[in-house]
Amino acid sequence: MKVLGIDIGGSAFKGAPVDTRTGKLLAERHRVEVGSPCPTAQGLAAAREIARHFKWRGPVGIGFPSVIQANRIGLVGNLGRNWEHKDGAALFGGATGRRARLFNDADAAGLAEMKFGAGKGQPGAVLMLTLGTGIGSALFFQGRLMPNIEFGHIPWKGKPIERFASAAVRKRRGLGWREWALRVNVFLAVAERLCSPELIIIGGGVSKKSDKWFKHLKARARIVPAKLHNDAGIVGAALAWEQAGR
Ligand code: BGC
Repeated sequence: MKVLGIDIGGSAFKGAPVDTRTGKLLAERHRVEVGSPCPTAQGLAAAREIARHFKWRGPVGIGFPSVIQANRIGLVGNLGRNWEHKDGAALFGGATGRRARLFNDADAAGLAEMKFGAGKGQPGAVLMLTLGTGIGSALFFQGRLMPNIEFGHIPWKGKPIERFASAAVRKRRGLGWREWALRVNVFLAVAERLCSPELIIIGGGVSKKSDKWFKHLKARARIVPAKLHNDAGIVGAALAWEQAGR
């Protein structure tokens, strides 16, 4: 089926129509920059603009950077607390005029990688991580997702560990690739201690530059970059809509 996938990140909303059977984008992605944190009205306008850009008449799947339970927005890490405890289906359904469903952004990206990317056919425990403004995590066992795993919020020196090791921290602090990768290793060691994955898939914008920093990573599990790179969030949001039932 065809679903408009929208991936909400810390600084932009990105969307494209997706064919859920092939996992391919049916048009070039459309990106709308937003503030960080993002006011509710601005975010809803961004989603509306994406739906209008594609003259979209079908369903809308949204990967949102927070815990999501039955479309309800839980604790929000970076987008702004103004979004918390709202009914996301009602908010984004109203903004786009279409049937919208929300999912955690990393869960969505993980679904896409498990079906079409680096996790395809992997039966054991697989941990998908997205490194961006925050750190997103999704845990799979025998291809099934345990939703809303929030490893980016493991406390580290009194703060969520994503504030120590996310990709945004590298830029903000002007860290070199190696220096930052050593921080990622601290995070990986904690995450591995908690769930012992056999495979770790790393997504987010930095996965495109894996040649610069993967050589510094250390973990017991095999580590691979996401195959769908930054499209994983968009494709996965569409897939998640379909999996939630028509
Ligand atoms: C949020 C997660 C999200 C991650 C990546 C974190 O701050 O708590 O829900 O998956 O950022 O966007």
